[in-house]
Amino acid sequence: MMDAFERFGLLINDRIVRTPLAIASMAGIVDAGYVLKRADHIGMACIGGYSVDQPTMDASKAVSAEGNRKEFLYDDPVKELKTQVALLEKSPVVTGINLRGSEPESYAAIARSLGDGVVYEIDAHCRQPAMVAAGCGEHYLKKPADLLAVVRALKSEGVTVSVKIRAGVAEDDRQLARKLWKSGADILHIDLMDFGSPKLRQIRNSCPLLLIANNSINTFERMREMLSHGADMVSLARKSDERTLSGLDAAISRYAAEEGWYNSPKQLCRGGDIRALAFCCMPVKECPLIPTLSRIGLPKEEYIRLKLDTVKGTPLEEGKQTCFGSLAWCCKTSSPCMFRDMTLKQQNIAKKDYMRMKRELSDTIMSRVFHDMPSDESS
Ligand SMILES: Cc1cc2nc3c(=O)[nH]c(=O)nc-3n(C[C@H](O)[C@H](O)[C@H](O)COP(=O)(O)O)c2cc1C
Ligand code: SF4
Ligand code: SF4
Repeated sequence: MMDAFERFGLLINDRIVRTPLAIASMAGIVDAGYVLKRADHIGMACIGGYSVDQPTMDASKAVSAEGNRKEFLYDDPVKELKTQVALLEKSPVVTGINLRGSEPESYAAIARSLGDGVVYEIDAHCRQPAMVAAGCGEHYLKKPADLLAVVRALKSEGVTVSVKIRAGVAEDDRQLARKLWKSGADILHIDLMDFGSPKLRQIRNSCPLLLIANNSINTFERMREMLSHGADMVSLARKSDERTLSGLDAAISRYAAEEGWYNSPKQLCRGGDIRALAFCCMPVKECPLIPTLSRIGLPKEEYIRLKLDTVKGTPLEEGKQTCFGSLAWCCKTSSPCMFRDMTLKQQNIAKKDYMRMKRELSDTIMSRVFHDMPSDESS
Protein backbone atom coordinates (compact mmCIF):
# COMPACT_ATOMS: atom_id res chain seq x y z
CA MET A 1 0.00 0.00 0.00
CA MET A 2 1.37 3.36 -1.04
CA ASP A 3 1.87 5.54 2.01
CA ALA A 4 0.31 8.96 2.35
CA PHE A 5 3.55 10.87 2.01
CA GLU A 6 4.51 9.07 -1.17
CA ARG A 7 1.03 9.64 -2.55
CA PHE A 8 0.54 13.33 -1.72
CA GLY A 9 3.89 14.63 -0.42
CA LEU A 10 2.10 16.93 2.00
CA LEU A 11 3.62 18.00 5.32
CA ILE A 12 2.05 20.53 7.67
CA ASN A 13 3.54 21.44 11.04
CA ASP A 14 6.06 18.61 10.54
CA ARG A 15 3.27 16.06 10.23
CA ILE A 16 2.28 14.00 7.22
CA VAL A 17 -1.11 14.99 5.89
CA ARG A 18 -3.00 11.78 5.12
CA THR A 19 -5.19 13.23 2.36
CA PRO A 20 -5.51 16.73 0.85
CA LEU A 21 -8.93 17.21 2.39
CA ALA A 22 -9.71 19.43 5.38
CA ILE A 23 -12.72 20.37 7.46
CA ALA A 24 -13.16 24.17 7.55
CA SER A 25 -14.31 25.76 10.77
CA MET A 26 -17.91 26.54 11.66
CA ALA A 27 -18.27 28.43 14.92
CA GLY A 28 -20.37 26.60 17.47
CA ILE A 29 -20.26 23.40 15.39
CA VAL A 30 -16.75 22.19 14.42
CA ASP A 31 -15.03 21.06 17.61
CA ALA A 32 -12.91 18.01 18.47
CA GLY A 33 -15.98 15.74 18.73
CA TYR A 34 -17.13 16.78 15.25
CA VAL A 35 -13.68 16.11 13.81
CA LEU A 36 -13.19 12.72 15.52
CA LYS A 37 -16.37 11.40 13.88
CA ARG A 38 -14.87 12.19 10.47
CA ALA A 39 -11.19 11.56 11.23
CA ASP A 40 -10.84 8.55 8.90
CA HIS A 41 -11.56 10.64 5.82
CA ILE A 42 -9.59 13.86 6.31
CA GLY A 43 -6.02 15.07 6.59
CA MET A 44 -6.59 18.28 8.51
CA ALA A 45 -9.31 20.06 10.46
CA CYS A 46 -9.66 23.67 11.53
CA ILE A 47 -11.72 23.61 14.70
CA GLY A 48 -13.50 26.75 15.85
CA GLY A 49 -13.71 29.66 15.42
CA TYR A 50 -12.77 30.37 18.99
CA SER A 51 -12.77 33.90 20.35
CA VAL A 52 -9.71 34.41 22.52
CA ASP A 53 -9.94 37.79 24.24
CA GLN A 54 -12.57 39.91 25.96
CA PRO A 55 -13.69 42.02 22.95
CA THR A 56 -14.12 38.97 20.70
CA MET A 57 -15.69 36.82 23.46
CA ASP A 58 -18.20 39.63 23.99
CA ALA A 59 -18.78 39.67 20.21
CA SER A 60 -19.42 35.90 20.29
CA LYS A 61 -22.04 36.43 23.01
CA ALA A 62 -23.68 39.20 20.96
CA VAL A 63 -23.74 37.05 17.78
CA SER A 64 -25.14 34.09 19.68
CA ALA A 65 -27.78 36.25 21.43
CA GLU A 66 -29.13 37.37 18.05
CA GLY A 67 -30.20 33.76 17.65
CA ASN A 68 -29.24 33.15 14.00
CA ARG A 69 -25.79 31.69 14.52
CA LYS A 70 -24.10 29.39 16.99
CA GLU A 71 -20.88 30.31 18.78
CA PHE A 72 -18.60 28.49 21.19
CA LEU A 73 -19.07 30.24 24.53
CA TYR A 74 -16.81 29.86 27.61
CA ASP A 75 -15.13 32.02 30.22
CA ASP A 76 -11.61 30.68 29.81
CA PRO A 77 -10.44 30.28 26.18
CA VAL A 78 -7.13 28.64 27.13
CA LYS A 79 -8.88 25.97 29.19
CA GLU A 80 -11.41 25.31 26.42
CA LEU A 81 -8.77 25.13 23.69
CA LYS A 82 -6.52 22.86 25.76
CA THR A 83 -9.44 20.48 26.27
CA GLN A 84 -10.26 20.44 22.54
CA VAL A 85 -6.67 20.03 21.42
CA ALA A 86 -6.06 17.21 23.93
CA LEU A 87 -9.03 15.30 22.48
CA LEU A 88 -7.43 15.41 19.04
CA GLU A 89 -3.89 14.68 20.14
CA LYS A 90 -3.91 10.97 19.28
CA SER A 91 -5.86 11.30 16.04
CA PRO A 92 -4.03 11.23 12.69
CA VAL A 93 -5.65 14.56 11.76
CA VAL A 94 -3.45 17.67 11.60
CA THR A 95 -5.19 20.11 13.91
CA GLY A 96 -5.71 23.78 13.17
CA ILE A 97 -7.43 26.17 15.57
CA ASN A 98 -9.37 29.01 13.96
CA LEU A 99 -9.01 32.02 16.24
CA ARG A 100 -10.60 35.43 16.60
CA GLY A 101 -8.58 37.97 18.56
CA SER A 102 -8.66 41.75 18.61
CA GLU A 103 -4.90 42.32 18.87
CA PRO A 104 -1.65 40.51 18.11
CA GLU A 105 -0.85 39.77 21.75
CA SER A 106 -4.14 37.86 22.18
CA TYR A 107 -2.96 35.35 19.54
CA ALA A 108 0.60 35.23 20.84
CA ALA A 109 -0.65 34.51 24.38
CA ILE A 110 -2.68 31.53 23.12
CA ALA A 111 0.35 30.23 21.23
CA ARG A 112 2.47 30.46 24.40
CA SER A 113 -0.17 28.51 26.33
CA LEU A 114 -0.83 25.80 23.73
CA GLY A 115 2.56 25.35 22.09
CA ASP A 116 3.54 24.39 18.58
CA GLY A 117 1.59 21.14 18.20
CA VAL A 118 -1.27 22.84 16.34
CA VAL A 119 -1.65 25.20 13.40
CA TYR A 120 -2.84 28.69 14.36
CA GLU A 121 -5.41 29.93 11.88
CA ILE A 122 -6.25 33.63 11.99
CA ASP A 123 -9.92 34.20 11.23
CA ALA A 124 -9.81 37.09 8.75
CA HIS A 125 -13.03 35.75 7.24
CA CYS A 126 -15.93 36.38 9.62
CA ARG A 127 -18.26 39.15 8.52
CA GLN A 128 -20.57 39.23 11.53
CA PRO A 129 -20.80 42.96 12.40
CA ALA A 130 -20.06 42.40 16.11
CA MET A 131 -16.90 40.44 15.29
CA VAL A 132 -15.70 42.98 12.72
CA ALA A 133 -16.35 45.79 15.24
CA ALA A 134 -14.23 43.88 17.78
CA GLY A 135 -11.32 44.18 15.34
CA CYS A 136 -11.07 40.72 13.77
CA GLY A 137 -12.61 38.74 10.91
CA GLU A 138 -13.04 40.91 7.82
CA HIS A 139 -11.53 43.84 9.69
CA TYR A 140 -8.18 42.28 8.90
CA LEU A 141 -8.86 42.25 5.17
CA LYS A 142 -9.72 45.95 5.23
CA LYS A 143 -6.71 46.74 7.43
CA PRO A 144 -4.00 44.34 6.20
CA ALA A 145 -1.32 45.99 8.36
CA ASP A 146 -3.21 44.73 11.44
CA LEU A 147 -3.34 41.23 9.96
CA LEU A 148 0.38 41.19 9.18
CA ALA A 149 1.07 42.25 12.77
CA VAL A 150 -0.87 39.20 14.01
CA VAL A 151 1.05 36.91 11.65
CA ARG A 152 4.35 38.31 12.90
CA ALA A 153 3.28 38.00 16.55
CA LEU A 154 2.41 34.33 16.04
CA LYS A 155 5.56 33.61 14.07
CA SER A 156 7.66 35.11 16.84
CA GLU A 157 6.24 32.32 19.03
CA GLY A 158 7.61 29.77 16.54
CA VAL A 159 4.27 28.27 15.45
CA THR A 160 2.74 27.38 12.08
CA VAL A 161 0.33 30.03 10.83
CA SER A 162 -2.63 29.79 8.50
CA VAL A 163 -4.72 32.76 7.44
CA LYS A 164 -8.36 32.23 6.51
CA ILE A 165 -9.57 34.86 4.06
CA ARG A 166 -12.62 35.53 1.95
CA ALA A 167 -11.66 36.36 -1.64
CA GLY A 168 -12.73 39.69 -3.09
CA VAL A 169 -12.78 41.65 0.18
CA ALA A 170 -9.18 42.90 0.39
CA GLU A 171 -8.16 45.57 -2.09
CA ASP A 172 -5.98 43.09 -3.99
CA ASP A 173 -5.90 39.43 -3.00
CA ARG A 174 -2.63 38.81 -4.86
CA GLN A 175 -0.83 41.59 -3.02
CA LEU A 176 -2.28 40.40 0.26
CA ALA A 177 -1.06 36.86 -0.43
CA ARG A 178 2.45 38.12 -1.10
CA LYS A 179 2.52 40.26 2.00
CA LEU A 180 1.29 37.37 4.14
CA TRP A 181 4.02 35.18 2.71
CA LYS A 182 6.69 37.81 3.30
CA SER A 183 5.43 38.25 6.88
CA GLY A 184 5.98 34.57 7.58
CA ALA A 185 2.54 32.95 7.11
CA ASP A 186 2.69 29.29 6.10
CA ILE A 187 -0.81 28.55 4.81
CA LEU A 188 -3.47 30.59 3.02
CA HIS A 189 -6.98 29.17 3.42
CA ILE A 190 -9.19 30.87 0.86
CA ASP A 191 -12.96 31.01 0.74
CA LEU A 192 -13.19 31.64 -3.01
CA MET A 193 -16.85 32.69 -2.89
CA ASP A 194 -18.02 32.89 -6.56
CA PHE A 195 -14.58 33.77 -7.94
CA GLY A 196 -13.59 30.13 -8.40
CA SER A 197 -10.43 28.80 -10.01
CA PRO A 198 -9.31 31.98 -11.89
CA LYS A 199 -8.84 33.71 -8.52
CA LEU A 200 -7.04 30.70 -7.11
CA ARG A 201 -4.68 30.64 -10.10
CA GLN A 202 -3.83 34.33 -9.59
CA ILE A 203 -2.97 33.67 -5.95
CA ARG A 204 -0.94 30.54 -6.84
CA ASN A 205 1.06 32.66 -9.26
CA SER A 206 1.75 35.24 -6.54
CA CYS A 207 3.19 33.25 -3.65
CA PRO A 208 4.56 29.85 -2.65
CA LEU A 209 2.28 29.43 0.39
CA LEU A 210 0.45 26.16 0.93
CA LEU A 211 -3.03 26.92 -0.42
CA ILE A 212 -6.30 25.45 0.84
CA ALA A 213 -9.22 26.19 -1.48
CA ASN A 214 -12.68 26.47 0.03
CA ASN A 215 -16.31 27.10 -0.89
CA SER A 216 -18.73 24.56 -2.24
CA ILE A 217 -16.03 22.06 -3.18
CA ASN A 218 -18.38 19.15 -2.65
CA THR A 219 -17.70 16.97 -5.71
CA PHE A 220 -14.56 15.32 -7.09
CA GLU A 221 -14.89 17.39 -10.25
CA ARG A 222 -14.78 20.63 -8.22
CA MET A 223 -11.94 19.26 -6.13
CA ARG A 224 -9.80 18.49 -9.20
CA GLU A 225 -10.69 21.88 -10.67
CA MET A 226 -9.16 23.52 -7.58
CA LEU A 227 -6.18 21.18 -7.38
CA SER A 228 -5.36 21.78 -11.05
CA HIS A 229 -5.38 25.56 -10.55
CA GLY A 230 -2.97 25.73 -7.65
CA ALA A 231 -4.60 24.32 -4.52
CA ASP A 232 -2.57 21.97 -2.33
CA MET A 233 -5.69 20.97 -0.40
CA VAL A 234 -9.41 21.68 -0.40
CA SER A 235 -11.68 22.18 2.59
CA LEU A 236 -15.37 21.69 3.28
CA ALA A 237 -17.56 23.23 5.95
CA ARG A 238 -21.30 22.95 5.29
CA LYS A 239 -21.07 19.62 3.45
CA SER A 240 -18.45 18.11 5.75
CA ASP A 241 -20.58 15.02 6.33
CA GLU A 242 -18.96 11.60 6.44
CA ARG A 243 -20.42 10.46 3.13
CA THR A 244 -19.12 13.44 1.14
CA LEU A 245 -15.70 13.40 2.81
CA SER A 246 -15.19 9.65 2.40
CA GLY A 247 -16.19 9.84 -1.29
CA LEU A 248 -13.72 12.65 -1.98
CA ASP A 249 -10.95 10.95 -0.01
CA ALA A 250 -11.39 7.68 -1.91
CA ALA A 251 -11.52 9.45 -5.29
CA ILE A 252 -8.41 11.59 -4.78
CA SER A 253 -6.45 8.67 -3.33
CA ARG A 254 -7.29 6.57 -6.38
CA TYR A 255 -6.46 9.45 -8.72
CA ALA A 256 -3.08 10.02 -7.02
CA ALA A 257 -2.15 6.33 -7.16
CA GLU A 258 -3.06 6.11 -10.85
CA GLU A 259 -1.82 9.47 -12.13
CA GLY A 260 1.22 10.14 -9.94
CA TRP A 261 0.64 13.87 -9.30
CA TYR A 262 -2.59 14.50 -7.39
CA ASN A 263 -2.66 18.27 -8.00
CA SER A 264 -1.05 18.45 -11.41
CA PRO A 265 -1.77 21.78 -13.12
CA LYS A 266 -3.46 22.21 -16.45
CA GLN A 267 -1.04 23.08 -19.28
CA LEU A 268 -0.24 26.80 -19.32
CA CYS A 269 -2.05 27.34 -22.64
CA ARG A 270 -5.17 25.71 -21.15
CA GLY A 271 -5.32 28.11 -18.24
CA GLY A 272 -2.88 26.39 -15.89
CA ASP A 273 -0.88 28.16 -13.19
CA ILE A 274 2.88 28.60 -13.31
CA ARG A 275 3.60 25.13 -11.92
CA ALA A 276 2.72 24.13 -15.50
CA LEU A 277 6.07 25.48 -16.70
CA ALA A 278 7.21 21.90 -15.98
CA PHE A 279 5.19 20.86 -19.06
CA CYS A 280 6.06 23.80 -21.31
CA CYS A 281 8.04 23.62 -24.54
CA MET A 282 11.15 25.55 -25.49
CA PRO A 283 10.19 29.23 -25.79
CA VAL A 284 10.12 29.28 -29.57
CA LYS A 285 6.55 30.05 -30.55
CA GLU A 286 3.75 32.56 -30.04
CA CYS A 287 1.96 31.19 -27.02
CA PRO A 288 1.36 32.12 -23.36
CA LEU A 289 4.84 30.92 -22.31
CA ILE A 290 6.88 33.98 -23.28
CA PRO A 291 4.49 36.56 -21.72
CA THR A 292 4.33 34.38 -18.58
CA LEU A 293 8.12 34.23 -18.28
CA SER A 294 8.39 37.98 -18.58
CA ARG A 295 5.57 38.50 -16.02
CA ILE A 296 7.35 36.38 -13.43
CA GLY A 297 10.75 37.88 -14.27
CA LEU A 298 12.36 34.66 -15.49
CA PRO A 299 14.51 35.37 -18.57
CA LYS A 300 14.06 32.86 -21.43
CA GLU A 301 17.66 31.70 -21.30
CA GLU A 302 17.42 31.08 -17.57
CA TYR A 303 14.18 29.13 -17.97
CA ILE A 304 15.92 26.90 -20.53
CA ARG A 305 18.99 26.44 -18.34
CA LEU A 306 16.93 25.82 -15.22
CA LYS A 307 14.95 23.01 -16.85
CA LEU A 308 17.96 21.40 -18.49
CA ASP A 309 20.10 21.59 -15.34
CA THR A 310 17.29 20.19 -13.18
CA VAL A 311 16.68 17.13 -15.35
CA LYS A 312 20.40 16.42 -15.88
CA GLY A 313 21.19 12.84 -14.91
CA THR A 314 17.51 11.98 -14.43
CA PRO A 315 15.25 9.98 -16.77
CA LEU A 316 13.65 13.26 -17.91
CA GLU A 317 16.89 14.09 -19.72
CA GLU A 318 16.09 11.37 -22.28
CA GLY A 319 13.88 11.75 -25.36
CA LYS A 320 15.85 12.26 -28.57
CA GLN A 321 12.73 11.59 -30.64
CA THR A 322 10.58 14.17 -28.80
CA CYS A 323 9.91 17.67 -30.17
CA PHE A 324 12.76 19.36 -28.27
CA GLY A 325 15.10 16.43 -27.65
CA SER A 326 14.27 15.85 -23.99
CA LEU A 327 11.30 14.89 -21.82
CA ALA A 328 12.03 18.11 -19.88
CA TRP A 329 9.90 19.90 -22.51
CA CYS A 330 7.18 17.29 -22.85
CA CYS A 331 3.46 17.64 -22.17
CA LYS A 332 1.19 16.12 -19.52
CA THR A 333 0.24 12.49 -19.89
CA SER A 334 -3.36 13.63 -20.48
CA SER A 335 -2.21 15.07 -23.86
CA PRO A 336 -1.80 12.06 -26.15
CA CYS A 337 1.65 11.81 -27.79
CA MET A 338 3.25 8.74 -29.31
CA PHE A 339 6.78 10.22 -29.28
CA ARG A 340 6.77 10.90 -25.54
CA ASP A 341 5.12 7.57 -24.82
CA MET A 342 7.68 5.75 -26.96
CA THR A 343 10.50 7.33 -24.95
CA LEU A 344 8.80 6.43 -21.67
CA LYS A 345 8.43 2.86 -22.86
CA GLN A 346 12.06 2.60 -23.98
CA GLN A 347 13.19 3.99 -20.63
CA ASN A 348 10.78 1.71 -18.76
CA ILE A 349 9.17 4.69 -17.02
CA ALA A 350 5.53 4.35 -15.96
CA LYS A 351 3.36 7.35 -16.81
CA LYS A 352 2.66 8.03 -13.15
CA ASP A 353 6.41 8.09 -12.44
CA TYR A 354 6.89 10.54 -15.31
CA MET A 355 4.27 12.77 -13.68
CA ARG A 356 6.01 12.44 -10.30
CA MET A 357 9.27 13.56 -11.87
CA LYS A 358 7.46 16.50 -13.48
CA ARG A 359 6.21 17.44 -10.03
CA GLU A 360 9.78 17.54 -8.75
CA LEU A 361 10.77 19.67 -11.74
CA SER A 362 7.86 22.01 -11.02
CA ASP A 363 8.89 22.31 -7.34
CA THR A 364 12.37 23.38 -8.43
CA ILE A 365 10.97 25.93 -10.87
CA MET A 366 8.64 27.34 -8.19
CA SER A 367 11.50 27.66 -5.69
CA ARG A 368 13.51 29.56 -8.28
CA VAL A 369 10.60 31.87 -9.20
CA PHE A 370 9.78 32.80 -5.60
CA HIS A 371 13.29 32.71 -4.21
CA ASP A 372 14.29 35.47 -6.58
CA MET A 373 11.17 37.60 -6.17
CA PRO A 374 11.91 41.16 -4.96
CA SER A 375 11.63 41.25 -1.16
CA ASP A 376 10.44 44.86 -0.92
CA GLU A 377 6.80 44.00 -0.34
CA SER A 378 6.70 43.10 3.31
CA SER A 379 4.87 46.15 4.60
C1 LIG B 1 -22.35 28.17 10.38
C2 LIG B 1 -21.01 28.59 9.85
C3 LIG B 1 -20.05 29.05 10.75
C4 LIG B 1 -18.78 29.46 10.27
N1 LIG B 1 -17.84 29.86 11.16
C5 LIG B 1 -16.59 30.19 10.71
C6 LIG B 1 -15.57 30.57 11.62
O1 LIG B 1 -15.77 30.63 12.82
N2 LIG B 1 -14.34 30.88 11.11
C7 LIG B 1 -14.08 30.83 9.76
O2 LIG B 1 -12.94 31.12 9.36
N3 LIG B 1 -15.04 30.46 8.89
C8 LIG B 1 -16.28 30.15 9.32
N4 LIG B 1 -17.23 29.74 8.42
C9 LIG B 1 -16.90 29.67 6.98
C10 LIG B 1 -16.60 28.26 6.53
O3 LIG B 1 -15.42 27.77 7.14
C11 LIG B 1 -16.43 28.20 4.99
O4 LIG B 1 -15.43 29.11 4.63
C12 LIG B 1 -17.71 28.54 4.22
O5 LIG B 1 -18.84 27.91 4.82
C13 LIG B 1 -17.63 28.11 2.77
O6 LIG B 1 -17.26 26.75 2.65
P1 LIG B 1 -18.33 25.56 2.38
O7 LIG B 1 -18.98 25.87 1.06
O8 LIG B 1 -17.53 24.31 2.34
O9 LIG B 1 -19.32 25.59 3.50
C14 LIG B 1 -18.51 29.38 8.88
C15 LIG B 1 -19.49 28.91 8.01
C16 LIG B 1 -20.74 28.51 8.48
C17 LIG B 1 -21.74 28.00 7.50
S1 SF4 C 1 5.12 26.41 -24.34
FE1 SF4 C 1 3.83 24.74 -25.12
S2 SF4 C 1 2.70 23.99 -23.33
FE2 SF4 C 1 3.56 25.99 -22.76
S3 SF4 C 1 1.96 27.47 -23.22
FE3 SF4 C 1 3.22 27.33 -25.06
S4 SF4 C 1 2.25 25.77 -26.34
FE4 SF4 C 1 1.40 25.56 -24.25
S1 SF4 D 1 7.02 15.04 -28.11
FE1 SF4 D 1 4.85 15.02 -27.63
S2 SF4 D 1 4.75 15.34 -25.43
FE2 SF4 D 1 6.79 15.95 -26.08
S3 SF4 D 1 6.64 18.15 -26.47
FE3 SF4 D 1 6.25 17.10 -28.42
S4 SF4 D 1 4.02 16.91 -28.48
FE4 SF4 D 1 4.53 17.34 -26.35
